[in-house]
Amino acid sequence: MLHRILTIEIARVTEAAAIAAATLRGRGNEKQADQLAVDAMRTALNGIEMDGMVVIGEGERDEAPMLYIGEKVGTGKGPKIDIALDPLEGTTLCAKAMPDSLAVIAMAEGGSLLHAPDSYMSKIAIGPGYPDGVVDLDADPVDNIRALAKAKGVKPDQITACILDRPRHAELIAKVREAGAGIRLITDGDVAGVIHTTDPASTGIDIYIGVGGAPEGVLAAAALRCIGGQMQGRLVFNKPDDRDRARKMGVKDPDAKLSMHEMASGDVMFAATGVTDGTMLSGVKFGSSHIATETVVMRSATGTVRWIKNRRKV
Ligand code: FBP
Repeated sequence: MLHRILTIEIARVTEAAAIAAATLRGRGNEKQADQLAVDAMRTALNGIEMDGMVVIGEGERDEAPMLYIGEKVGTGKGPKIDIALDPLEGTTLCAKAMPDSLAVIAMAEGGSLLHAPDSYMSKIAIGPGYPDGVVDLDADPVDNIRALAKAKGVKPDQITACILDRPRHAELIAKVREAGAGIRLITDGDVAGVIHTTDPASTGIDIYIGVGGAPEGVLAAAALRCIGGQMQGRLVFNKPDDRDRARKMGVKDPDAKLSMHEMASGDVMFAATGVTDGTMLSGVKFGSSHIATETVVMRSATGTVRWIKNRRKV
């Protein structure tokens, strides 16, 4: 079991990354904002008493100098912990000061998180309260929308799907609309897109569908494990040697449909701090004497979801 004290530690980590990134919010410089977030997150992680290993990070060792996959973080003492992180999820959203840019992290007992390669993932997610298997990654989108509407007790035209606005989704978008549902097209940020399905009454989103980053898929699965909901994913490879890379990273069958538990098992903690204002979290606010942040921390073992509004003195 993860130690409860990590609930606070994990929030400090995403707060530090979000504050650092927010200093470059709206400046049009994705790379620099990401770098600041990475540095801040790494420093915060290294202060935690744990034997942590980054399993989802900034990339593989040869392409990412910091927080690369396999990097050891923490003091080296204490429990073995798998870490999936994205110090700045939605780099373009931050650079343009658009909604739902987040600093995110998931921690789990060693060996509990899918070691996903830096490829794509086809994803489908819905919030809690539905019968198991009401939607399926391999079903026709029209059937998924109809089944979800029936389970929710509404007509398909009262369902809203969230989909990344990409040319690859043209057919999916057409099918979802054919089913009668509305679509919130997002330019980036599908971790937030998936999490939004967990509270349709406030976010207006019932289902997330489409292909986004595989690392983001594991992070979102970790969040859903904590709050409740259903998610499935399948890795999508664009380069011929990607399958072998996935196998080398420990993925047994790179083409398998993955359940939420296969992506994030055991006791999982997830935290996200808003960088820019979003549907669920406010972004960082800089005052003359303090910096305010909003963070959500969740834990699968207890199902606890904590909203932390923090004021840090400057
Ligand atoms: P970054 O934070 O790395 O810019 O990722 C943003 C994002 O929109 C993710 O949320 C999403 O999973 C992925 O990019 C989609 O990839 P692509 O832009 O290649 O379609």
